[in-house]
Amino acid sequence: MRAHSGHFSPSKFAMSLEAAKCIDTGDISDSNSAIVDDLVLKGWCVIPGFMPDADIDKLRTLAREYHAAERYQTAGIGKGGNRSVNRAIRSDQICWIDPHDGHYRELCGERLETLRLAINEQMYLCLFDLETHFALYRPGAFYGRHLDQFRRGGRRKLTIILYLNHGWQPEDGGELLLYTDRDLASAPVRILPHGGTLVCFMSELFPHEVLPARRDRLSLTGWYRTREISLPIFP
Ligand code: OGA
Ligand code: MN
Repeated sequence: MRAHSGHFSPSKFAMSLEAAKCIDTGDISDSNSAIVDDLVLKGWCVIPGFMPDADIDKLRTLAREYHAAERYQTAGIGKGGNRSVNRAIRSDQICWIDPHDGHYRELCGERLETLRLAINEQMYLCLFDLETHFALYRPGAFYGRHLDQFRRGGRRKLTIILYLNHGWQPEDGGELLLYTDRDLASAPVRILPHGGTLVCFMSELFPHEVLPARRDRLSLTGWYRTREISLPIFP
């Protein structure tokens, strides 16, 4: 079992193309195409209303239920033996989601699978699976500037963040700052975590940070990953 993805088996998660096509209604394929177009042009995009409010409400309820069941842990930095908790860098709590979780699959797993297929079809990114967690920022919690994928050749290719907050106001803070200019020279794009908004960006390219929230801030965050290939010629 692989150290960093031992909590699920990605191959079992991949939905058949036929199943994905069945739920790929016109609206969804339009929305997927708009995302792909933006990713091709800029490498990032923000899509308000990616999912209907009713589904976002159900996802928020699920995220809260898992919190009540004490399934969240203090978020760490790094992987495996390098993992450490450092509250000076990030202070959110996360709950990894089993991709076989029936509630998750029904509420958004299949929708996110259609997006994976659309991106692969049009960008040849070889996205193989998606790992996701819920994240909860309590008032005062933040995440300092970082990249989601440091190592060249790492598996995380595309970051997605779906916000689950109802009635978020600018004074609630918790903005995502996305540095779309590599040398950090120009001002970042500022994104409020409104429920239903999806943010996507290429994981290796864009530094970003989360400003301190002033009320509970909930999201579902995920990474589309390529397949792990372990060749003996690269020990
Ligand atoms: C992350 C992250 C941003 C956000 O979890 O790596 O950068 O807006 N999240 O929640
Ligand atoms: Mn991040």
